[in-house]
Amino acid sequence: MGNQELIEKIFKLKEERQAVILAHNYQRGEVQDIADFVGDSLGLSQQAAKTGARVIVFCGVHFMAETAAMLSPDKVVLLPDRNAGCPMADMINAEQLREEKKKYPGSPVVCYVNSTAEVKAECDVCCTSSNSIKVVEWVEDGKPIIFIPDQYLGAYTASKTNKKLILWPGYCPTHMKIGADDIINLKKKHAHGEVLVHPECRPEVIAQADYALSTDGILKRARQSLAKEFIIGTELGITHRLKKENPEKIFIPASTHAVCPNMKLITLEKILWALERMEYHITVPQAIRERAVKAVNRMLEIV
Ligand code: 13P
Ligand code: SF4
Repeated sequence: MGNQELIEKIFKLKEERQAVILAHNYQRGEVQDIADFVGDSLGLSQQAAKTGARVIVFCGVHFMAETAAMLSPDKVVLLPDRNAGCPMADMINAEQLREEKKKYPGSPVVCYVNSTAEVKAECDVCCTSSNSIKVVEWVEDGKPIIFIPDQYLGAYTASKTNKKLILWPGYCPTHMKIGADDIINLKKKHAHGEVLVHPECRPEVIAQADYALSTDGILKRARQSLAKEFIIGTELGITHRLKKENPEKIFIPASTHAVCPNMKLITLEKILWALERMEYHITVPQAIRERAVKAVNRMLEIV
């Protein structure tokens, strides 16, 4: 089946099922193009919370679909490939977090949204890469803050606030593929290029950048900046929207190896199957949802 035929079938079935398609900025270009909304983790959770649709087809990774399911428990949330996980989110589980909390009694816990629902249930407040500074600043002064699971977003956030953060050694394997050398070399060739990176990058990479921003932050800066060339330090999928929204500007990936294999598991075929079979239905057990959703809602209130 050609893409056009697939797209027509998806649109027809989407109507019948009263579904909405949400896609992350790292999705394949053809998936982004058929989505009702494309955005970063924060934007996607806000959309999931307010949509009037009965079904949400979530084109992203598991923790994102889980967050949507927590925020919209009356809706059916479908993840077109159940293997689309986030290795960083799996770098800490609830048991490990409970042990960490015992080591620092009374310390508040801030979790990056890239975490499982059972981990979120153990946390005080959630954050995304677009609001981690605001969230950490919101936490009352006193004990140091346990920040999980991304050590690099945590280190970046700590560097922008006066708070003391206890970091968990998690990381994103995709952003790890971007090296400071990649950017140093590209800056020599593109002297006027503005460097935009994601805060999941290592500190030495962020040190080479003009801005460290969430994926929507990168898109916004590229639209507003007067620069003509940009060196982009994040997952390659973002280039699709960058080029589409700024056809006159040039975007150079910091590393062509920065591909998230999990994000790329979602295809047009799988979106059609998801709508045909109503699979894979992502749910969060009630007892976990009740606790985890508090941390997510607290973040949504702060921002
Ligand atoms: P954003 O919230 O910036 O879109 O990031 C999500 C993510 O998984 C980055 O690797
Ligand atoms: Fe997880 Fe990294 Fe993929 Fe984002 S890019 S979903 S943090 S593995």
